[in-house]
Amino acid sequence: MSRYDIITPKLLTHHKLMDGYMLVDIQSYQSQRKAVEAFARYFRREMHYDFLQYNYKAPAGEAYLFFMNVEPVGAVHFLQNESGWYLNWAWIHPYARGEGLIQKAWPSFVQRYGTFAISLPISPAMKRLLAKVNHPYIDDTDQGK
Ligand SMILES: CC(C)(COP(=O)(O)OP(=O)(O)OC[C@H]1O[C@@H](n2cnc3c(N)ncnc32)[C@H](O)[C@@H]1OP(=O)(O)O)[C@@H](O)C(=O)NCCC(=O)NCCS
Repeated sequence: MSRYDIITPKLLTHHKLMDGYMLVDIQSYQSQRKAVEAFARYFRREMHYDFLQYNYKAPAGEAYLFFMNVEPVGAVHFLQNESGWYLNWAWIHPYARGEGLIQKAWPSFVQRYGTFAISLPISPAMKRLLAKVNHPYIDDTDQGK
């Protein structure tokens, strides 16, 4: 596998959805947790981070797998600290971006986690998404101006 290949993780039929998203936590099937980890790897690779932010063997917080036509196409991951919940990372397959997958799920995330924070640095695409859903965030690029 070259570093440019994107291979969507495989799940058993009854472990996936037609469309939409599902919660993945410590009680979820190993294959679902592995799928979240696979997307965390693509996130790390695209953003050029050196730290993998999800471990299927010790899954911290709560993650969500996103599906299109029964295919898992991405994930978001929430963690909790003393200030509350925050969105740790999000990654959607490039071919599935801009379809509103995360936007549609946003109200239910706000319902569950409150006005959660977003882990810095926030990518330009995520900033546009946050503007679209009217979600407050700290714009680190504004600091010092
Ligand atoms: C950020 C990311 C998770 C957004 O996922 P997505 O499923 O494409 O987001 P949605 O389709 O739900 O976006 C909804 C809205 O956000 C805005 N938006 C999202 N990505 C955008 C982009 N690249 N350019 C412009 N607007 C964008 C748009 O306003 C869009 O609504 P519209 O198409 O009706 O105008 C995805 O682009 C991604 O995986 N990027 C690479 C990793 C990354 O940046 N992660 C976030 C780190 S903080």
